[in-house]
Amino acid sequence: METMNNNNGDNSEMKLLANRLDIHRFSEVPKYYVQPAESRADKVMMVKNDSIPIINLGGHDRAHIINQILKASQEYGLFQAIILYVINHGVSKKLMDETMNVFKEFHGMPAEEKKIQCSKDPDGKFKVYTSTNYFPNKTRKDGQVECWKDTFLHPCPTSAENMNYWPDKPHKYREIVGEYTRELHALAHKILEMLGEGLGVAPKYIYNKMGETPTIVAQHYPACPDPSVTLGIPKHRDPSLVTILLQEEQVQGLHLEKDGQWIAVDPIPNVFVVNIGFILQLMTNGKVVGGIHRAVTNSKTARTSVVYLIYPSPKAIIKPAEEFVNEKTPTLGKFMNFEDFHAYYVKNGMKTEEEYFKIKP
Ligand code: OGA
Ligand code: NI
Repeated sequence: METMNNNNGDNSEMKLLANRLDIHRFSEVPKYYVQPAESRADKVMMVKNDSIPIINLGGHDRAHIINQILKASQEYGLFQAIILYVINHGVSKKLMDETMNVFKEFHGMPAEEKKIQCSKDPDGKFKVYTSTNYFPNKTRKDGQVECWKDTFLHPCPTSAENMNYWPDKPHKYREIVGEYTRELHALAHKILEMLGEGLGVAPKYIYNKMGETPTIVAQHYPACPDPSVTLGIPKHRDPSLVTILLQEEQVQGLHLEKDGQWIAVDPIPNVFVVNIGFILQLMTNGKVVGGIHRAVTNSKTARTSVVYLIYPSPKAIIKPAEEFVNEKTPTLGKFMNFEDFHAYYVKNGMKTEEEYFKIKP
């Protein structure tokens, strides 16, 4: 069996999967990518995705929309917001397509070019890396299983400051992604505002926690010789308040866990997948629940997804609003600021709430 690298576990220089011409010569998946049997997607029960609620954000009855969002995020943790009239969600199909294409193009560039495009920010917050979630590992720990994906991410501050650090390749990157992230920020704001309203928390409690620096993540899952043993991303909740996901049309890959089963969240043109994040779950004391999801790979097709994560500001303390704390649902009393939470999350991988509440303050 060939291995992806031979440098004794140091994968900091591991080649981006998208730039490996040799992937399809592997007769088997390199062992670092082979998931333990219980995590694989080969024998799990898949349920049809018509059980995922569809929310029409473009409707005129605000109370009804709020009700639907709330119900969906309590029962499913994940909903797809379909906009019947594009003008109503503020993001045109054209901009959605251009955004997807610009990120596909980005991942299709030579590895050296991608590195150059990520190197302008003196703080090093623009990253392109392979095979791990969220941040590059310097060293692969023993037994660590890699994700079959490349990742490109960067902050996109609402102030639009430092856009000269943004890639200037592919052509029109700044223009397209600048506009896309502005529009998605407004959409996220609207969703959080409605959620807050529906939950009856003090107006602005939730969206006031929105930081000024969302992050855009372009995940790229190259075609994989054996999808039955690999995962693009293992199951997790997002470390965000809310995540808005743009999926590539015609290519499947996202799964949602519900009642111990997996539901395929197939792409629907002109539809965003909106995912309640783990932070919102903590802030509402579990009143809304972050969707547990994962991404699988395909044997013939690469897949790209564009993930927009709304984070709280770094010093915001993650704690439930008082409205959600009572005798029946006491707070589990773990208050950290977002910066510490994120550092913990990144270091320890994907955590469930049970594990989170065991963290020593
Ligand atoms: C993520 C994620 C899913 C996808 O990046 O957190 O869950 O479909 N991505 O790429
Ligand atoms: Ni996710």
